[in-house]
Amino acid sequence: MAEKSFHVAVAGATGAVGNQMIACLEEAGFPVRSLRLFASARSAGRTLRFRGETLPVEELREDSFRGIDIALFSAGGSVSEKFAPLAAAAGCVVVDNSSAWRMDPEVPLVVPEVNPHAVAGYRRKGIIANPNCSTIQMVVVLNPIHRRYGIRRVVVSTYQSVSGTGKKAIEELHDQTRALLNFLPVPRAVYPHRIAFNCLPQIDRFLDNGYTKEEMKMVNETHKILEDETIGVTATTVRVPVFYGHSEAVNVETRKPCPPEEVRELLARSPGVLVVDDPAAGRYPMPIDAAGQDLTWVGRIRRDESVQNGLNLWIVADNIRKGAATNAVQIAQLLARDHL
Ligand code: A2P
Repeated sequence: MAEKSFHVAVAGATGAVGNQMIACLEEAGFPVRSLRLFASARSAGRTLRFRGETLPVEELREDSFRGIDIALFSAGGSVSEKFAPLAAAAGCVVVDNSSAWRMDPEVPLVVPEVNPHAVAGYRRKGIIANPNCSTIQMVVVLNPIHRRYGIRRVVVSTYQSVSGTGKKAIEELHDQTRALLNFLPVPRAVYPHRIAFNCLPQIDRFLDNGYTKEEMKMVNETHKILEDETIGVTATTVRVPVFYGHSEAVNVETRKPCPPEEVRELLARSPGVLVVDDPAAGRYPMPIDAAGQDLTWVGRIRRDESVQNGLNLWIVADNIRKGAATNAVQIAQLLARDHL
C-alpha cells in the first residue's frame, strides 16, 4: 500500500517559528504531498525553499484552507483566533502555536513525550494547541519525575531568549548590541526597555494578580498537560539577551523521596531528554549547545536540602525548535500516523 501523504499548510511561514516549521517538516521526512505557505499581504510574492523547491508565499485569506489536510499556525494569537476555526470548518486539522486556544477545554494541549493520547481530542474543534515554549521543556522533564515520585510543588525561574518574541526581537538585540559597542544611539521598538546587556522580568503583559501572562501560562498549561491540577506551580519569567535557547532553574518538591542519582538515571531513560550533568568536568546544559537540536537538556540535578523531598534542576532547550516548531511537527506526525 502506498504511504499516506498530506496537503500541508504553514500560516506565518515567514516568521521565526514558521520558517523553522518548514525546515522541521523537511528534516522529519513528513509525508507532504503539497505545501502551501501563508503570511500577511506584506510577504505575498516572496519565496521560500522546501525540499529543494522554491515555493511562493501567499497572503492568508479566509478561503486559503480549501483542500488542506493539516495546517501549522504560527502567525500570532489574533490570526489564530480568526483563521483556525475557518480552517477547521474547511476540513483541515490545525496545530496552533499561539496561546489563543490552549486553555479551551475542547482543544487538546499536547507534548508528544508527555500526553500523546490527548491528540485524539482534536475531533471536537479540529484544533490542537502547541504549548508555550517554556512549559514544553519543563514538562518534558517533570513528567517522568511526577509519575515516579508525585510532584507536590514547582518553583521555576526562566531565562528566555529573544527569538521567542519573533524576528523583530532578534534584530533588536543585534542592533542594540552593535549600537552600544559603537557608542551610537540605542534603537528600541519591541521590548519596553533595552534588552542588550540587560534582563527584563516581564514577558507578555501584566495581569491583575501581579504575575505576567507568560508566568500564568506556565502554571495553567502545566496543569492541563500533566492532567493534575493539584501540583502547586509558581513562576518568574525573565527575558535575557540570548538569541536562541531558553533556560530554566526549576525547584521541585515531591511526595516520595527522590534521590538525585535515581532521578538522573530516570531522566536519562526518558523520551526527548538529554542529561548533561558532570559539574566536576564543567559540563551542564547551556543555550549555545542546546540551540539547533531537538532534545531537552537537563543538568545540575541536586538535592534541595531545605525540604524533606526536593530537587533543583537546570533545564535548557531550543525554544524555536522543541519549544515551538519541532513540537508542532511531532504532533502532526502523531495525527498522521494514528488519526488521519
Ligand atoms: P509577515 O512576515 O508577512 O509579517 P514573527 O513571530 O517571527 O514576527 O512572525 C510572525 C508571522 O506571522 C510572520 O510570518 C507574519 O507574516 C505572520 N503574520 C503576522 N500578521 C499576519 C496576518 N494578519 N495575516 C497573516 N500572517 C500574519
